[in-house]
Amino acid sequence: MTIIKVNGPSPYEVKIGHNLGEDIVAFVKLRGIDKVAIIHQPPLAAPARQLAGELESLNVQVVLLAVPDAEAAKTLQVCEGLWDRLGEENFSRADAVVGLGGGAVTDLAGFVAAGWMRGIKVIQVPTTLLAMVDAAVGGKTGVNTAAGKNLVGAFHEPSAVFIDIDRLDTLPVEELISGSAEIIKTGFIHDPVIIERYLDNSKECLESTGFLPELIARSVAVKAAVVSEDLKEAGLRETLNYGHTFGHAVELREYYTWRHGRAVGVGMMFAAHLAHCRGLIDAELVETHRRILESVGLDTRYQPGHFDELYSAMTRDKKNRGGHIRFVALTGIGSTTRIEDATVDELRAAYAAISE
Ligand code: GLY
Repeated sequence: MTIIKVNGPSPYEVKIGHNLGEDIVAFVKLRGIDKVAIIHQPPLAAPARQLAGELESLNVQVVLLAVPDAEAAKTLQVCEGLWDRLGEENFSRADAVVGLGGGAVTDLAGFVAAGWMRGIKVIQVPTTLLAMVDAAVGGKTGVNTAAGKNLVGAFHEPSAVFIDIDRLDTLPVEELISGSAEIIKTGFIHDPVIIERYLDNSKECLESTGFLPELIARSVAVKAAVVSEDLKEAGLRETLNYGHTFGHAVELREYYTWRHGRAVGVGMMFAAHLAHCRGLIDAELVETHRRILESVGLDTRYQPGHFDELYSAMTRDKKNRGGHIRFVALTGIGSTTRIEDATVDELRAAYAAISE
């Protein structure tokens, strides 16, 4: 078992290992929690029931709360239904919510916990690679509204995160590929060893019996260090948005039919060209992006002819401040800066480099 500590305002541990059911039960008992609500999506009904059984066998009361699949779970209407259920079951401040699932569920469960009685414990049990290395760690929670994705939310740190490596074997390869984009991102911004692993043997980087468990631990360690220092994105945490400015624009243009990691992959490629255009990184590092992303099956190119639409989406990105589009850019592997004054010509040049 690997344990990574997150030392933010409310310190907690991320545990990475096999068959973590017993560890989750031990944590719940140790914290004196008598009642938990397990929020999960329909495909995870069986593991949710299994965890419920393990908890009940030690006299923990469990309420199973199924929510709609994927992003359909992240609505205020679903939240309200869950809060109603917590009310019916007399959930108090001493009780806890468990988010069992992918990023949509961990975001939702965190927000439900943040709102109930102004904040009860949430234990995150991510089951997708993307949720393991990103969504479940760091305390960002939220839902989508008509105004946009994740615009309503709260910083609410989990009490613990349990990453069960065995779940990787149940995931479709597209899910592993998408999650790899966030791992590669943490490599480029903070951990050169991650980049070495992908350059050495990208096939093993997608295998649960290969480098993948180590890569998850390294990626979580990067995220843990970043959010320990800057929970509320006042500075360092922004580096985690590498590849996301252009990536979010692609997601919007594709009506969210692209997996998040796929869009972030193209976004990193765009950011690499932009940084090269600025003289921040050399052509070799741009090529390293292309090689690594392609080696795991991520896109490095986007269709030509959509610059205006993507530019307009980037100008509306929620991460912008003072009307400037903000990009995280590399100055080398493991070192970052921010570009806030990119000209339209520079952005066009980066787009041309990935589309023509
Ligand atoms: N996914 C970026 C962050 O947690 O800040």
